[in-house]
Amino acid sequence: MTTIGIEDYGFATGSRRFELADLAEHEGIDANKYLVGIGQEAFSVPTFDEDIVTLAASAATTMIDRLSPDARDSIRTLIVATESGIDQSKAAAIYVHELLELGPHVRAFEIKQACYGGTAALATAQGIVARHPDERVLIVATDIARYDPDSSGEATQGGAAVALLISASPRILAFDKAQGLSTEDAMDFWRPNYRTTARVDGRLSIQVYIRQVLSAWDDYSGHGGRPFTDLHTLCYHQPFTKMASKAHLKLARHLESGQTPSDLDAQLAPTFRYNRIVGNSYTASMYVGFLGLIEHADDLAGRALGFVSYGSGAMCEVFSGEVLPTYLKTRHTEATTAMLDARQPVDFATYRELYYGYPNPTDGSAFETPHDTSLPFRLAGIDHDERRYATSA
Ligand code: HMG
Repeated sequence: MTTIGIEDYGFATGSRRFELADLAEHEGIDANKYLVGIGQEAFSVPTFDEDIVTLAASAATTMIDRLSPDARDSIRTLIVATESGIDQSKAAAIYVHELLELGPHVRAFEIKQACYGGTAALATAQGIVARHPDERVLIVATDIARYDPDSSGEATQGGAAVALLISASPRILAFDKAQGLSTEDAMDFWRPNYRTTARVDGRLSIQVYIRQVLSAWDDYSGHGGRPFTDLHTLCYHQPFTKMASKAHLKLARHLESGQTPSDLDAQLAPTFRYNRIVGNSYTASMYVGFLGLIEHADDLAGRALGFVSYGSGAMCEVFSGEVLPTYLKTRHTEATTAMLDARQPVDFATYRELYYGYPNPTDGSAFETPHDTSLPFRLAGIDHDERRYATSA
């Protein structure tokens, strides 16, 4: 059977950083509600010339540049997963394909199911590589999470993109065959077409998340999955890091795993490093957690990792894989650290202006964006409902 896994990756996030302590100050509440209660410290804020397309292309470009010409030509599928799409019809993948200058003979499309979309792309990619082991599939999970100002969701915003190269010559992680699935119709979080921000029932969303995780885990076990305690670390979808802790505790109790609180924490906490300061990046969030893990843990070779991918509405998939010894030479910790550290801090007023005043003309009028991003690609403007993208150089 062909081994299929992650060969390389890329990561991008918004160029500005907003501290949740400043949101707490605006609200006149104790900042520990955010720092401790939901386990979040800050979130990334996109500039006016950043959107899900520029984040996606920026995440993928350095990785593409690292490939040999043959390996580059072997990318015949590009899947962009997002739930904050910029068009109801044309796929964000077409814009990303153009910016990355991939050849014409590529299948490029967008995929959606709330935060689960990145994992839907991954499952699709594995099917394509199983049928064509000489091909590579580029998947990019990219999102900017937006809730109404002064709503309880405001603290759980953020944005990022993670690009993954899926192939039959993995260097970072080899996927197991077992996959656990669970779907139910729930109105916990959704975004009707006319809205730019999500509708959410926060309490219900937490309950559905946990219910779906237990159901998907049982299905994973029933399909030959690894025992819970064999998993060195689990990467959960992280709308906020405390959500992963809550679900992990419930899952351990459900399985009567007998682990101590510190065992459970050790299985999880290393995945929080980036999410705590990037915020919810919807489809990308679980993969941001994975990068935070592999870029900072040196003892993962041969270890089994679990993945718990939840998307509201609701769908959950549990899967697993084994870390390959070559991950130590393939990770890009310095580049990620430099990108995260380069984010400029913004005050409350600037954050609000960037987050809610971004260009979104609804009458075909023209809008030129100031050049503010520090990412390789930018949204130069919008004119007659057409988005114009450019390189930042
Ligand atoms: P809230 O209702 O304002 O917060 O919003 P709260 O009152 O429940 O407090 C949060 C926690 O902080 C509580 O802990 C408090 O006790 C604690 P808990 O009881 O839950 O363990 N707390 C404090 N701790 C220390 N010191 C203090 C303090 N004060 C309070 N001083 C909520 C919370 C998550 C509901 C809100 O942020 C929200 O609606 N977020 C958006 C929805 C969401 O993220 N849901 C998660 C599951 S659904 C999901 O993951 C899918 C999603 O990513 C979308 C998709 O799939 O596309 C959202």
